[in-house]
Amino acid sequence: MNFAKELERVALIVERRLETLLASSAGTPTSLDEAMRYAVLGGGKRIRPFLLIESGRLFDVDERHSLDAACALECVHCYSLVHDDLPAMDDDDVRRGRPALHIAYDEATAILAGDALLTLAFEILSSPATHEDPGIRAELVFNLAKSAGWRGMALGQAIDLDAERQDLHEEGVARMQALKTGALFCFACEAGAILGRAKASDREKLRAYAMALGQAFQLADDLLDAQGDAEAIGKAVAKDADQGKATLVGLLGVEGAKARLAALVAEAENALAPFGPKASTLIETARFIAERRI
Ligand code: IPE
Ligand code: IPE
Ligand code: MG
Ligand code: MG
Ligand code: MG
Repeated sequence: MNFAKELERVALIVERRLETLLASSAGTPTSLDEAMRYAVLGGGKRIRPFLLIESGRLFDVDERHSLDAACALECVHCYSLVHDDLPAMDDDDVRRGRPALHIAYDEATAILAGDALLTLAFEILSSPATHEDPGIRAELVFNLAKSAGWRGMALGQAIDLDAERQDLHEEGVARMQALKTGALFCFACEAGAILGRAKASDREKLRAYAMALGQAFQLADDLLDAQGDAEAIGKAVAKDADQGKATLVGLLGVEGAKARLAALVAEAENALAPFGPKASTLIETARFIAERRI
């Protein structure tokens, strides 16, 4: 299997399903409808949905049965990007190669579109179309709420903003990364395990993989901010240092950060070794994340 082609194939089915889930009801679309579609459709690597679908596949879940949960997760991710770009947060004007939502529309619309995407994720997860078993749906909802909320991604974003004013040491930065980015990666893998009714010991292995992967992803993002090409990644670069962001690139330097990234990828690979060849796509995902230029 060609990994890049597989990622592209899954991104396409995710995109199509998101289009359906975000289709306007009859009548003229409101500006909120349009803004939500702008935030979600037409861009993005769809790496979190891919991880969810591949984690499910590890436990023999057909992608048709993990697709809606994957789309719900992407809605939360897109909401997090819309709010992350607001002037009160990172104040970024470009996202996915085009004007950020608050530039294309306005700040109020961006706040509301983010809010509505977050709640739409829970509407999708709790829908019988996502899974026939209400117990599974409740477990997905519970886990996404924990990952996205006050002990997960939102907390990580709060620490990220605080750290602009107050220095963080290395463990502090790692904890922030684990929360602001790692929490949604953990949900992606956990959701696959929930859908596949995986046993506790397998969930544990997958969680170890996801924690390393989430940190690796943010570290790669911070390296791209330091060294990447704005055009290729579709957002501004060289902003973290200017804004006084706490990053491992800032603390360890580029070479130190690259060494840490390699160690995290090895950690992710080792966590999945007990699954054997079945986990090869997830292992390739870890390598892709470390090597990505976009
Ligand atoms: C960007 O995430 C935000 C981070 C957590 C670093 P992605 O790099 O996955 O963004 P898209 O979805 O591909 O645009
Ligand atoms: C974003 O981290 C993490 C989120 C939860 C959105 P960054 O602020 O580094 O993401 P980019 O670089 O703007 O995509
Ligand atoms: Mg940010
Ligand atoms: Mg940002
Ligand atoms: Mg960044």
